[in-house]
Amino acid sequence: MWKMIKDFHIEMSRGLAGRPSSLKMLPAYVDRPTGREKGKFIALDLGGTNFRVLDICLKGSGASSKPRAMKFVLKKKLVKGSADPLFGFLADSISRFLRKEKIGPARAIDMGFTFSFPMKQKGVASGSLVLWTKGFNVRGVIGKDVVALLKKALDKKGLGRVRIAALANDTVGTMVARSYSDPHCDVGVIIGTGTNACYAEKLANIRKLNGPKMGSMIVNIEWGNFNKLEKTSYDKKLDASSDRPGEQVLEKMVSGMYIGELARLVIKGLIGKKAIFNGTSSPGLEKAYNFRTEYVSEAASDRSHNLGKMKSRLKSLGIPNSTLEDRRTVKSVCEMVSARAARVSGAAVAAVITKMDPTLSKMHTVAVDGSVYEKLPRFSKNIAKALQEIFGRKAGRIRLVLTKDGSGKGAAIIAAVAASGE
Ligand code: BGC
Repeated sequence: MWKMIKDFHIEMSRGLAGRPSSLKMLPAYVDRPTGREKGKFIALDLGGTNFRVLDICLKGSGASSKPRAMKFVLKKKLVKGSADPLFGFLADSISRFLRKEKIGPARAIDMGFTFSFPMKQKGVASGSLVLWTKGFNVRGVIGKDVVALLKKALDKKGLGRVRIAALANDTVGTMVARSYSDPHCDVGVIIGTGTNACYAEKLANIRKLNGPKMGSMIVNIEWGNFNKLEKTSYDKKLDASSDRPGEQVLEKMVSGMYIGELARLVIKGLIGKKAIFNGTSSPGLEKAYNFRTEYVSEAASDRSHNLGKMKSRLKSLGIPNSTLEDRRTVKSVCEMVSARAARVSGAAVAAVITKMDPTLSKMHTVAVDGSVYEKLPRFSKNIAKALQEIFGRKAGRIRLVLTKDGSGKGAAIIAAVAASGE
């Protein structure tokens, strides 16, 4: 973990200076909020299997209303198709939301758009996609401004009055949402289908940015792409058969998109060595990505004497006669894959915090969201344990706080910051 922290710092500094690095260190053109931001905003959230639209009222003094929200499922053909159908669908969904919530033409609409992919920004209200991750692969978007693409689709639907005031990565949204009421919050982390983090950096340290050097700005690290990590043979196999070999190396060890697949590859390896199931596999276990990350959760939470839940899960995967010993082995495989993911995340959090505050001289809140962090048994505990191993008692100065659905609210707050700056 210490080696990882050292390499992480080197890559962070390179990225901030605009030199080649696996960490892109993308400036977000927004700083932490004051908590006094006010007004009604619509927030959009794109980055996983659903597109969400929310209506949020920020009350100032760190409080906000419970958002009214609608979810729209993104079909596979939309996330693997071309730009027009995807942005047309987003515009349609927004229009349905406005109708349902009876938000008529009388209300000016300022939107904050959470876009959970790496993007290069030149200001808070625009950004061009750097690359797709998490299984998205929509033609004609890389290198384009996603705000302009959405605006064009909205205009086509007669929604020209909608203004996209801010664009933010989900980590930035999550950090901003927590910062609204917590002045110690200076890191945002997502560990879900994908993984990433952002933090508050001094402008003087963002050497690739020209302009004022006073104050600070949030930087989207894109830590999923960190590549100074020791790979096992399983990591190498997973990478070689992935959409983009060589990219998102840390993400492929940590995030929900890959944890199940890693466990499947280890299980297959053990079958090959005749260490489990008498050396017999099944079509269910041979199929890539068929052992889902939820099954890893299920295995880790099965505390029954005969591991009954796992027995039926293995049965459904075509292994009807597992022995208790087999199931114990599969359970520990799942726990190991999950524990490694948590330790890699813990070391990454430690690196980000020591970049800002090498001696841990003050308190830090880390706003965290994502299904892996929230749902994988012992995941958050294992991160805390890793931080304790690294920092000893000083780990008490770091507080990880689950910030559920923060990214939508955060986008609204950023829209408010942007609107007030005009
Ligand atoms: C993306 C990040 C995003 C993260 C969490 C990664 O795959 O590259 O931009 O923040 O997933 O959603």
